[in-house]
Amino acid sequence: MTNAKNIVAADLKHVWHPFTQAGISPDPVPISHAKGTVLYSHDGREILDMISSWWVTLHGHAHPKIVNAIAEQAGKLEQVIFGGFTHQPAVTLIERLSALLPDDLDRAFFSDDGSTAVEISLKLAHQYWRNLGKPERCQYLAFEGGYHGDTVGAMSLGSSSGLFAHWQNMMFPVTMLPYPQTWQGDPQIEQKEAEALAKLDEHLARQGDQTAALIMEPLCQGASGMRMCRPEFLRAVAEKIRAAEVLLIYDEVMTGFGRTGELFACQKAGVTPDMICLSKGLTGGFLPMSLTICREQIFQAFLGDTLEKAFAHGHSFTANPLACAASLASLDLLLDEETTRRRLAIEAFHTERLFGLPDHPRVTKRRVLGTIAAFNIECDDAGYASKTGPRLRDYFMEHNLLVRPLGNVVYLLPPYCTTDDQLNRTYDVIEQAMAEII
Ligand SMILES: Cc1ncc(COP(=O)(O)O)c(C=O)c1O
Repeated sequence: MTNAKNIVAADLKHVWHPFTQAGISPDPVPISHAKGTVLYSHDGREILDMISSWWVTLHGHAHPKIVNAIAEQAGKLEQVIFGGFTHQPAVTLIERLSALLPDDLDRAFFSDDGSTAVEISLKLAHQYWRNLGKPERCQYLAFEGGYHGDTVGAMSLGSSSGLFAHWQNMMFPVTMLPYPQTWQGDPQIEQKEAEALAKLDEHLARQGDQTAALIMEPLCQGASGMRMCRPEFLRAVAEKIRAAEVLLIYDEVMTGFGRTGELFACQKAGVTPDMICLSKGLTGGFLPMSLTICREQIFQAFLGDTLEKAFAHGHSFTANPLACAASLASLDLLLDEETTRRRLAIEAFHTERLFGLPDHPRVTKRRVLGTIAAFNIECDDAGYASKTGPRLRDYFMEHNLLVRPLGNVVYLLPPYCTTDDQLNRTYDVIEQAMAEII
């Protein structure tokens, strides 16, 4: 057997893949190495990674600056317990990030992935109010369709995504607000926003003083289908939440590090949340790490002279030095003029090619936000389980494109090093798919 066949055979025998029905899925593709936007398979394929490998790869695969930073750090300090100890890469990373984030978003708690960053924000909000002597503030608000991860608290916040039916009775109740999704040429956006804001008003009037926090994915709900909203809406929500003294949590696990045009979506909206959750692009996509960054007033509420008020939470790999070194190198690249130029070029390219695709009765709701582009395919079974998704994913893979629709939503979210040629090739295949199978 070839190496490729051996790997796949062993995989099929021993491995359990995420979000995969092994009973019907095609065999996994064995990847030997990757460079920039290209994944190279053991059997000689070159596949364009147009979704940044689940939205994590910022500057392309195997970027030498990040590779070297990790290698150098590994020779110095690979890991140290973060209870009672600290290290330069962690401290420098937070100093640099807090200088980039608005206002006093200065105090960071490290964890391992997007779900744990969200879980921590929930636990912090809960204990914050207890520490302030207001334990009755223990309810949460979130938006319909939001996705915040797969741990139990994060699932509760994302319970309306339709992904978690099996675990419904493990979750706690969260009040869901309507989400005013919008797209190019949407005539009803103001009405949708007004309805969502009215529902928020209603909730705050009834239960504002029992509400701990509102959490949202600012500007774009990722997993529910790259559903975008306007910055005006975020500002209006923030104003009402502030007036009710409820905490505002932005889950920027996907939108962070330049995806929406600005470095962070909160800047594009002109809103400073009380907490921001970051992961995915944090390490440039090299290593799992996440941050829950808080305003100083939240940290202050946990100070005292006994353990009683402390945040008794932590993970074995908290602030892993290799991941911090990768993040610092990734940040250097992100702030480089050439990366900014490329991000703008990708946005302009999306705008030209997506809106330039021919009219098609089933291709609707075209939208672009920063380096994210998406459209819907109208069908009878719209939603995450739509059969349209796997059919198109297989078609794209036959054309050596990693484009993995979210149900009936096709989207692109490429690494920032992606070239015009690679984007052109991708849009050509999409156009061909529109003619042949959509
Ligand atoms: C907005 C958002 N929050 C949280 C998560 C969960 O992150 P992770 O898969 O790293 O746990 C995701 C993952 O896609 C996400 O998009």
